[in-house]
Amino acid sequence: MNENRIMSADEQSNDAEIEASLRPQYLNEYVGQDSLKENLKIYIQAAKQRNEPLDHMLLYGPPGLGKTTLAFILANEMHSHIKVTAGPSITKSGDLAAVLSTLNEGDVLFIDEIHRLPKMIEEILYPAMEDYELDIMVGSDNGAGGRSVRLPLPPFTLVGATTRAGDLSAPLRDRFGIVNKLDYYNEEQLASIVRRTSSVLNCKIEEDAVYEIARRSRGTPRIANRLLRRVRDFAQVLNDGLISKDITMDALERLHVDSLGLDEVDIRYLRGIIERFKGGPVGLESLANAISEETTTLEDVYEPYLIQIGFVNRTSRGRVATEKAYEHLRITRQDSLF
Ligand SMILES: Nc1ncnc2c1ncn2[C@@H]1O[C@H](COP(=O)(O)OP(=O)(O)O)[C@@H](O)[C@H]1O
Ligand SMILES: [Mg+2]
Repeated sequence: MNENRIMSADEQSNDAEIEASLRPQYLNEYVGQDSLKENLKIYIQAAKQRNEPLDHMLLYGPPGLGKTTLAFILANEMHSHIKVTAGPSITKSGDLAAVLSTLNEGDVLFIDEIHRLPKMIEEILYPAMEDYELDIMVGSDNGAGGRSVRLPLPPFTLVGATTRAGDLSAPLRDRFGIVNKLDYYNEEQLASIVRRTSSVLNCKIEEDAVYEIARRSRGTPRIANRLLRRVRDFAQVLNDGLISKDITMDALERLHVDSLGLDEVDIRYLRGIIERFKGGPVGLESLANAISEETTTLEDVYEPYLIQIGFVNRTSRGRVATEKAYEHLRITRQDSLF
């Protein structure tokens, strides 16, 4: 698979550093997600007044919508520190115990991809979250013959992020006091993000260009920022650095980003349903096989946006392509012919 697809919402190898520099630091710089932000302001103020850490919080939604950013903002707003880890990098219970034992009072512990924590390890989190206690086995490597010791932990806030809230076990999910879904951003919000990033990167951009990028970013800040950076390269070399509408259209065309920001996988997905399964309904597995993609990638990354823009419906009998999808691809429906 193409690792550096421009329209992928996933973080890519060269993203991390640049993204860190583009991340808003405080809630008032964080664009969109308005109702979530309003609630967070209340929780933050209340926690500060009580001099307590924030309640544990689960953030879920497709990649690139600002979960990691929000975790860092929460730590900043609470004037506390953040420790960052991820489900896949915790493979032994000792790994998690080690992270927990470094926490100071009021710290934010951010666990990315928390749905990928092994169940055995997840159980260590229960007493840690509920009672700020860490159970560890001492006196034996394999547990047999050892005894369990409870160590107190300082009050802290666990922030978990996941693209698949449905994969979280119920006991873990129930221990989060606050559960929030992040939504796709609208054109206006993405435009603000593009403007903000342009000014951080110190580049000149025309308003028309701002909206052109916003429209093609699949509702996703990470993609908006990435497109802007690519377009900026073209502007720098071909247009004295000014990001004009023309240079933007030209660059996006060269990058094969279509008018709605759909990439080849989206198109293959839609064509798959339409051409190989007569528009559906088709089960996810069959479709994934037909277009050689993984079911989880389709489910987490591609389908949410195609559903959001009304190109695909998920029915009990499978996926169905809508009229809008046919129109966008300029394919005439077979059954509308005689
Ligand atoms: N609400 C927002 N306002 C401004 N920039 C944002 C916002 N959400 C995300 N971004 C930008 O998008 C990029 C990806 O966000 P990130 O928090 O890493 O997404 P996630 O963790 O959900 O995959 C970051 O570099 C950040 O600058
Ligand atoms: Mg993230």
